[in-house]
Amino acid sequence: MSVHPKGNTAKITVPELLQRKSQAADFPKQKITCLTAYDYPTARLVDEAGVDVVLVGDSVAMVALGYDSTLPLTLDEALHHTKAARRGVQHALLVADMPFGTYHADVNEALRNGVRFVKEAGAEAVKVEGGERRLELIARLTESEIPVMGHVGLTPQSVNAMGGYRVQGKTSRGAEQLLRDARAVEAAGAFSIVLEGIPRELAAEITGTLRIPTIGIGAGPECDGQILVLHDMIGLTFQDSPKFARRYTNVGKRIFQAVREYRADVLSGNFPSDAESYHRARVRDEEELPVNTDGDW
Ligand code: KIV
Repeated sequence: MSVHPKGNTAKITVPELLQRKSQAADFPKQKITCLTAYDYPTARLVDEAGVDVVLVGDSVAMVALGYDSTLPLTLDEALHHTKAARRGVQHALLVADMPFGTYHADVNEALRNGVRFVKEAGAEAVKVEGGERRLELIARLTESEIPVMGHVGLTPQSVNAMGGYRVQGKTSRGAEQLLRDARAVEAAGAFSIVLEGIPRELAAEITGTLRIPTIGIGAGPECDGQILVLHDMIGLTFQDSPKFARRYTNVGKRIFQAVREYRADVLSGNFPSDAESYHRARVRDEEELPVNTDGDW
């Protein structure tokens, strides 16, 4: 199946995303569309639907692996999912989230881990959470030819430090710090920055200040692009979704109904039917024909 919108097959690159932001002020800027994907089929569908950036988010920990936060995700798990998504993506920029603990201890180790995402898993950029504190790290990664997407505001890897998943930057002090964080991420060389869970007005201010594109999630419509967790958007989660996570369909309900139907069909003998069964070879003129002559799969 190929569902790629015609005429939208150009490869998305880091310079292309930067260029969208730097277009003349009187030119309508094309918003950047981003979604998460953690495996081959969803990455392929998201890519073929024409989304610009596929993020192998560390949200995979909660959404697909069943952990209760993003913190337990290991480097090997993140690499494994990035490799799977890589096989499904042709057009979008593939960005991999660096898991908690893989860039916190030592910059050289972080660099080695970042290299693994590019070299082994095929990521075209990595994402790291944090602002001013990540200046050196972001600079080292970008100097080493690894494009970096920053992430400030409600950073889920700071859940313990924040005391929960709380909207950030609501006070003037918090807002000033976030502005400094966003500027630091840009100054260090990041090519874009995720603004998560911050007031719309602050996201608009940061977007107006920075030269790199801002990608919002729970940060209002003025950002240069938007990202959502695919599983929230399609209703394939068991947690309550935050209010910004607009639900476009309910895949979870559909899967449940399909499985119930299948189970009932097996129990009642309604599945498989004769048409869904293979048959023995017909014997013609005493001659035994090879088995499975009634067609392929
Ligand atoms: O892990 C993730 O999915 C993310 C996005 C929601 C920005 O970091």
